[in-house]
Amino acid sequence: MANFIKPLDNSLSYELFGIKFKNPVWTASGCFSYGLEVAQNLFDISKLGAVVVKGLSYKPRTGNPPQRIVETPSGMLNSIGLQNPGVEYFAKNILPKLKEYDTVIVANVFGEDEEEYLKVGEYLNKTEGVDILELNVSCPNVKKGGLAFGSDPDTLYSLVSKLKEVVEKPLLVKLSPNITNILDTAQASVEAGADGLVLINTLLGMAIDVEKEQPILATKTGGLSGPAILPIAVRMIYQVYERYGTEIPIIGVGGISNTEDALQHILAGALAVQIGTALFFDPYSPLKIIEGLENHINRKGYKHILELVGKAHKLKLES
Ligand code: FUM
Repeated sequence: MANFIKPLDNSLSYELFGIKFKNPVWTASGCFSYGLEVAQNLFDISKLGAVVVKGLSYKPRTGNPPQRIVETPSGMLNSIGLQNPGVEYFAKNILPKLKEYDTVIVANVFGEDEEEYLKVGEYLNKTEGVDILELNVSCPNVKKGGLAFGSDPDTLYSLVSKLKEVVEKPLLVKLSPNITNILDTAQASVEAGADGLVLINTLLGMAIDVEKEQPILATKTGGLSGPAILPIAVRMIYQVYERYGTEIPIIGVGGISNTEDALQHILAGALAVQIGTALFFDPYSPLKIIEGLENHINRKGYKHILELVGKAHKLKLES
């Protein structure tokens, strides 16, 4: 087993990067706000493996104009434009409340340019209560930053290397599926020193209103998420695990709505899974998946969830 991971007593818990996780089920950035609405109204978020907060920029952002969301067959298109109150507001006004819950806090880092990414990274690195940084180089809905950084391996390598010089906390890179070969950006991230990879962000898509005869989203295009993208996420995780095996932690995200979906990510090679769009139709889905994973490993006679990570790799992918 890789040295960055250590199983703990409970069948779902482990230590990753020296941080204790109760289970491998996290919420995905942008689908759970900062966790407080659910914590205050629905359930104790201490039950989650981790909470990944909405992308944070240095300055507050109002995001894109409406309409920003459309339901699509088995999915959703969004074009929020990384609306957020800015990293300082988050640290002073939101994080203190979030820290009252006993879960791992992952901050999603966004910048319009390299300078802003570095400022946000440095700020969060010094912010007590933020455990892990997740680099957002994959948002398809902004004119500057986001996918512009995550679609070119050289640009991505440069950004991740510079961040690694100023950030000591574990740095995960959230990759975009909107490229020809996911292994190119995975390799750029690994060589630049990323501590883990998160696969995948949304796929660029569009929906048209046939009465108005125009795109529904104000920005015309948006990011497709939800069950429709599950097979793409599973394939990309499988490809990256096939190349790197246990050399680098992979966190799976994309289309997970239930335990079976989560297991597909894990069997492909994910050490943990993030639940995103499913939260919109079932905010309790992460809790159901935690219970489902526990039942699954008991039923199949495993001792620990880590025994399942990458287990689908008996066959090599055809190249
Ligand atoms: O538009 C958005 O805020 C989406 C962000 C993302 O996909 O990372």
